[in-house]
Amino acid sequence: MEYRELGGTGEMVPEVGLGTWKYTGGSEPLRKGIELGANLIDTAEMYRTEDAVGVAIQGIRDKVFLATKVLSSHLRYDAVLKAAEDSLRLLNDDVIDLYQIHSPNPGVPIIETMRAMEDLVDRGVVRYIGVSNFSVAQLREAQQAMNRYPVVSNQVLYNLKRRQIERDLVPYCVDNKITIMAYTPLAAGGLSGRSWLMPDKRSAVLAAVAEETGKTPAQVALNWCLSRPNVIVIPKSNSVARTIENCEASGWLLTASQVAALDQAYPI
Ligand SMILES: NC(=O)c1ccc[n+]([C@@H]2O[C@H](COP(=O)([O-])OP(=O)(O)OC[C@H]3O[C@@H](n4cnc5c(N)ncnc54)[C@H](OP(=O)(O)O)[C@@H]3O)[C@@H](O)[C@H]2O)c1
Repeated sequence: MEYRELGGTGEMVPEVGLGTWKYTGGSEPLRKGIELGANLIDTAEMYRTEDAVGVAIQGIRDKVFLATKVLSSHLRYDAVLKAAEDSLRLLNDDVIDLYQIHSPNPGVPIIETMRAMEDLVDRGVVRYIGVSNFSVAQLREAQQAMNRYPVVSNQVLYNLKRRQIERDLVPYCVDNKITIMAYTPLAAGGLSGRSWLMPDKRSAVLAAVAEETGKTPAQVALNWCLSRPNVIVIPKSNSVARTIENCEASGWLLTASQVAALDQAYPI
């Protein structure tokens, strides 16, 4: 497993982490992923998987970088503090490594939310502050609302089929040392080849690159995300075998011409 710096923090996180939305795999897939170095686990109060994550990391918490999220309907000052407390209870833990705002809420001033997030860091309950589904303009506002700590990450939709963030978010995050955590990096499994009865033109290119590299389409799709600066991926799998497969998307590189062929097959 290769690691990348989280924002400008000096903290190293794996380039393949473990998503847990709709996760029903029990402890084994997560523990296998952690064993393979994919020690970043992403959950959220919304997913109702924090308790399963808490069980899976029992006894190995020190090896794990734990990320969770506060719902956008809980962004008032007191609600943020309560949500963090509730998450920690479910996770059976006392520190969240990365606490993310799940999505912006225009009805709550960001300065109020960030005051709560920064207070959680001061109290030692949260180590780093991140956001999710924030545009460049929303990120700027969030950064301006912070007094003592930086925004270290933005978790956003990114995969071969959904490349919109390349227009402005990727360069902005590179310039501002903000890690992009790519969610749905397999297009919810659609890039894995599992459901291709008849591959279309684009998936034929993905299949050809997979063949050329000796990797699976899923591994190529994940590795393609990683060809971008500042990006890490958090695929979700309920299966040990597919978790291993996803972890093995790290540690090698597509060539420039393979990346170019995929860019061309899946234009923005
Ligand atoms: N911040 C947000 O708003 C937001 C939104 C969506 C997702 N997320 C985060 O991002 C994570 C990943 O996104 P996602 O769950 O939407 O989609 P994804 O990771 O792109 O795809 C997950 C789907 O792909 C299948 N899969 C996984 N690995 C595979 C492989 N190697 N070969 C074939 N199929 C494979 C999984 O099935 P099996 O489980 O059966 O393997 C599952 O059906 C989430 O779990 C969550 O943590 C965040």
